[in-house]
Amino acid sequence: MKMRNRAKVFVIDDDALIAAMIARALKGEGHEVLTESLSFSDIVRRIKDCSPDIVLLDISLSGRSGIEILEEIKEERISSEVIMLTSDERVETAVKCMKLGAVDYLTKPFNLDELKIIIRNLLEKKLLRHEVSYLRKVYSELFDKEIIGESVITRELKEKVGRIARARVPSILITGESGTGKELVARCIHRVMHGGCSNGCAPFVAVNCTALPEHLLESELFGHERGAFTDAKSEKKGLFELADGGTVLLDEIGDMRPNLQSKLLRVLEERTLRRIGGRDEIPVEVTVIATTNRNLMQAVETGDFRLDLLYRLNTFSLTVPPLREKREDIPALARHFLGHFTRQYNNRTVKGFSREAEDLLCSYDWPGNIRELRNVIERIVVLESSELIQPLHLPGEIAHLPGSRSRTSDYRFPLPDSGLSLEEVERELFQQALEKAKGNRTLAARLLQVSYDTLRYHVKKFGLDA
Ligand SMILES: Nc1ncnc2c1ncn2[C@@H]1O[C@H](COP(=O)(O)OP(=O)(O)OP(=O)(O)O)[C@@H](O)[C@H]1O
Ligand SMILES: [Mg+2]
Repeated sequence: MKMRNRAKVFVIDDDALIAAMIARALKGEGHEVLTESLSFSDIVRRIKDCSPDIVLLDISLSGRSGIEILEEIKEERISSEVIMLTSDERVETAVKCMKLGAVDYLTKPFNLDELKIIIRNLLEKKLLRHEVSYLRKVYSELFDKEIIGESVITRELKEKVGRIARARVPSILITGESGTGKELVARCIHRVMHGGCSNGCAPFVAVNCTALPEHLLESELFGHERGAFTDAKSEKKGLFELADGGTVLLDEIGDMRPNLQSKLLRVLEERTLRRIGGRDEIPVEVTVIATTNRNLMQAVETGDFRLDLLYRLNTFSLTVPPLREKREDIPALARHFLGHFTRQYNNRTVKGFSREAEDLLCSYDWPGNIRELRNVIERIVVLESSELIQPLHLPGEIAHLPGSRSRTSDYRFPLPDSGLSLEEVERELFQQALEKAKGNRTLAARLLQVSYDTLRYHVKKFGLDA
């Protein structure tokens, strides 16, 4: 954005000498100054037309009160900032002007340098405000493109994400089933929050609380001093310190042990931490975003989760709904992933979905949510080369093909008392699948829920391609 530290200033003072003096001083600073003498009934219209950045308005004009003009400027919602000039030293007058929306107030005779400084500060503030609103807009649009879906549910989610991010709250809890997009939402929040950072570089670190045993997670998060425990050969900064000024994403917070939960609570409440084995309180400024697909209230009841931490995290919470509750988003998501993967794998043939295939995608329940949809589309793009994706190309559980998981779950293979060679069974099944699919290997692979490569391997191994 272009820097602008020159202002357009409109001076309204019926003392021509003072007006000229102000004009000279401000022009010397490079500002553009207007000091037209107009009949006062026209003045607000004139201000509106030339939309100055700043209006210098004398309070006691001959014929009309500056206060009235100020009121009219505000009523007309003119965005210019108004600085009042007066020889009236009473505090009440100043208070009245500020209440009516003036940004500042100068008592005559005033020092011209003081006026210059006030204008400089105002411009700086205005510039910052512009920059912030511009960046917020850019970043909101950005995450609008990333969080795909225009269903009411998704639109509401995006709005809430934007509101929470702009409020820069200290901690956020994101709940939702696996694969619904919790991490995506967390990253969007982070970006909107820190879009204003001059080089867009606030750190974002993600930790999965399930992946590490308690003591490792503790040293990962809080760091340690040298010699704090046997393996601590040198001091180490924890992720909270590394993420200072940015965001820590705690994935699966429900799996964090209670001892660590208390330490986390301290970071949230005191904004300081102590490394393992350390004595100093180290201040940290981080936004903590925690995610969970568990019901934390239940975990509180079983004693696995601290109620005070839940309250703290719950202050700002978001729930990302499962895909089956926003089926209207499925076509857009499917097309989005199709575009993404055809580009990634340079697949130039697959163009879209047949009506029937799209209907099947929309009626499936997606227990793995958006991640499952993404994976299904990726597999199709890698394996298929027909222009339109048909039901035949979809996994069995979605296309309701025989051999789908739901059908096989209660299927029992009779094992003879004498036993059976597993390899024989495999050979038999691959052969049957090929027969059933009339030699169509893609379909045969689907019937057995194996990849095309696996099928090809077995066909070769058992010599079924004769
Ligand atoms: N609304 C969406 N638009 C586009 N892509 C999405 C959307 N929601 C999720 N995704 C994509 O789906 C995948 C899974 O999302 P993500 O990893 O954020 O889910 P999660 O809720 O964190 O899952 P888990 O609970 O398993 O950690 C990611 O590739 C993500 O980019
Ligand atoms: Mg996740």
